[in-house]
Amino acid sequence: NHKNTWSGRFNEPVSALVERYTASVDFDQRLAEYDIQGSLAHAQMLAEQGIISNEDFTAIRHGLYQIRDEIRLHQFIWLQELEDVHLNIEKRLTILVGDAGKRLHTGRSRNDQVATDIRLFLRASIDEITNLIKAMQLALLNLAEQHIHTIMPGFTHLQVAQPVSFGHHLMAYFEMLKRDSERLSDCRKRVNQLPLGAAALAGTSYPINRERVAQLLSFDSVCQNSLDAVSDRDFAIEFCACAALIMTHLSRMSEEFILWMNPAFGFIQLADRFCTGSSIMPQKKNPDVPELVRGKTGRVNGHLIALLTLMKAQPLAYNKDNQEDKEPLFDTVDTLTDTLRIYADMLTGVQVNQLVMRQSALHGYATATDLADYLAKKGIPFRDAHEIVAKTVQFAEQKDCDLSDLALDELQKFSSQIESDIFAVLTLEGSMQSRKHTGGTAPEQVQTAIQKAKEWLTAE
Ligand code: ARG
Repeated sequence: NHKNTWSGRFNEPVSALVERYTASVDFDQRLAEYDIQGSLAHAQMLAEQGIISNEDFTAIRHGLYQIRDEIRLHQFIWLQELEDVHLNIEKRLTILVGDAGKRLHTGRSRNDQVATDIRLFLRASIDEITNLIKAMQLALLNLAEQHIHTIMPGFTHLQVAQPVSFGHHLMAYFEMLKRDSERLSDCRKRVNQLPLGAAALAGTSYPINRERVAQLLSFDSVCQNSLDAVSDRDFAIEFCACAALIMTHLSRMSEEFILWMNPAFGFIQLADRFCTGSSIMPQKKNPDVPELVRGKTGRVNGHLIALLTLMKAQPLAYNKDNQEDKEPLFDTVDTLTDTLRIYADMLTGVQVNQLVMRQSALHGYATATDLADYLAKKGIPFRDAHEIVAKTVQFAEQKDCDLSDLALDELQKFSSQIESDIFAVLTLEGSMQSRKHTGGTAPEQVQTAIQKAKEWLTAE
């Protein structure tokens, strides 16, 4: 009673529960395209090396093409009793092309096969995500470009700190995403190594040509150790770490959008299509999309921890534990791609309330540092200048006005060094324009940053 592909030495079948418990076909069928791609390359190499005949290879190829069509047309019947994507496809191949199909697995194991499939899947995912990051960066750039001169209060501790260009603020996220993109492209190098040939764990006695398979599948090179090739999933963990960082960046931006949409801020409005209402409170327009981005960041972070924990105590080489790598990985890719897509679209619908932003920057003594710097430039040690301005702020606070609302003689009570040129310094524009070094918030610098960003985007 040889029910399963591997059950030749078994005396009793697994229970229905064990069958369901050990099967992965419900989720790993997602790897089918990559599994077929890998099998085609493996079979071609086997034929080129004379390990199987050209006739067998031709039969295998036609069978795999047919299976690919069946899967694409949703006509393929996936069977849980056949455990996983690999055995389902192999079984169907054998039904379609007979003995040739049974020769496909020569010199191969599901262990190197599945590792190859995941790497192919992840490589394609990384390429897609990289493009989606670019699309979002482009949306950020467009918005930033419209707001080079828009002034908002920059915050530290969520308290008004210094005036900044809203465009500058947005470009901070461009930088984060740029590093995210660079991290992914570095991760891709380690993903793009071929495990096939490692077989179960020790390699194979057939005269295979691993480099040829790598070439056929566009891998940069082959994994250098067979035990490592089938067992480690560090490349997937690394990808999840990259993904967690991207989500973390998007979560920070989401948190800001949520705050800015609160009427107490009133800085922005999101397009209606990214918000929802309340079933009880008719006035509500809730920022559900950014809230969900913030929430889903937790789930992506969780997947990273899941994979790290999955790997941490596994002895060499392959263990079935690794079957558990797929769902977290797939969900990470799905969550991330959806989030990036939605974000690029959402950024095109951000309405900025420039007046409110500016008004908010005028409250909270955002130019106090500028007054201190003004005094320090006149020779007063900065620490003393800091003290003088603190007293001035206290005075203005009592009068319930901004520093720039004080009369010159009022200001001069705090320091005789203050002259009428101070008023240019105390304006929001003056403060912003004075920070004109690389990376500063002066509009000319923001313009330069946007220019550089455009060049980077087109060079990539
Ligand atoms: N479904 C398995 C996985 O996802 C494939 C490899 C199984 N290998 C084995 N010897 N049981 O990891």
